[in-house]
Amino acid sequence: MVEYQKILDKIYSDLKKTKDHGEVAAYIPELKNVDPDKFGMYLNRLHGDNFYVGDWNESFSIQSISKVFTLGKAMSLIGNDVWKRVDVEPSGNPFNYLALLEQEEGIPRNPLINSGAIVMADILVSELDDPKKDFLQFVRNIANDESIIYNEKVAISEAKTGFTNYAIANLLKSFDNLHNDVETVMDFYFHQCSLEMTCEQLSNSFYLFANRGKCQRNCEYLTLNQIKRINAILLTCGFYDEAGEFAFEVGLPGKSGVGGGIVALLPNEFTLTCWSPGLNPKGNSYLGMKALEAFTTATNLSIF
Ligand code: DON
Repeated sequence: MVEYQKILDKIYSDLKKTKDHGEVAAYIPELKNVDPDKFGMYLNRLHGDNFYVGDWNESFSIQSISKVFTLGKAMSLIGNDVWKRVDVEPSGNPFNYLALLEQEEGIPRNPLINSGAIVMADILVSELDDPKKDFLQFVRNIANDESIIYNEKVAISEAKTGFTNYAIANLLKSFDNLHNDVETVMDFYFHQCSLEMTCEQLSNSFYLFANRGKCQRNCEYLTLNQIKRINAILLTCGFYDEAGEFAFEVGLPGKSGVGGGIVALLPNEFTLTCWSPGLNPKGNSYLGMKALEAFTTATNLSIF
């Protein structure tokens, strides 16, 4: 019998004692205001009790974790046509790297780097009647929680300083891989990134990806085959140029965001979220990486 609460408590107390907690993201001005000492974890087990520790019930900016939701929604709407506009290879580059997109003639390496996520945003802007409202409802459905909201201040703050993202969108447009106007797509993208969720809500929303496409509300959005593909992309691309390191240290499919959140999952077993706002130089939560490594090492639970 694995003693989950003991393991989470030990990870919490060990990491709280460490001096280096990384650097809070500053390139989105509104994110600078977050307390760097926050730390929470929430484990949602598919076939058993849930466990949590620290600031698990506080909302934070999910940022790039939202790219998994837009990918899932785009796949549910247009199926394999998604792959005509984005590839599925790890990029080995930072999330906002621009040069590769030009070299590869406007086809992003994968849907989890910014260029790929902006193409997913474009698909949703084309396919949804009321894109921001309908996408928010999708996230609320899969999280089984109607209280989830966009943070307008964060969205506006990023729009004001998002020069690289605008450059990516313009480059996509010049290669004919953006069908709507740049401003509309970026407004959607900055809003999806501004979604605020707690560790519990994130773990609940990723239940779908661990539970063969069925969410806790028992809604079915994705086929088993689509879930297999999303989890493969999480493993190979979820941490940008640190995807190899995450697979090596943690051994689970997962996704990070510059708000300091990381969600990982073991298919058919659990989803696990960690939030600690300080980032490492690759833009992934500094303590979050360590916490997840400690969890899979202590429990011996990983996909390998
Ligand atoms: O587009 C951006 O730069 C941010 N809204 C999201 C980046 C992000 O979260 C990268 N993840 N680690």
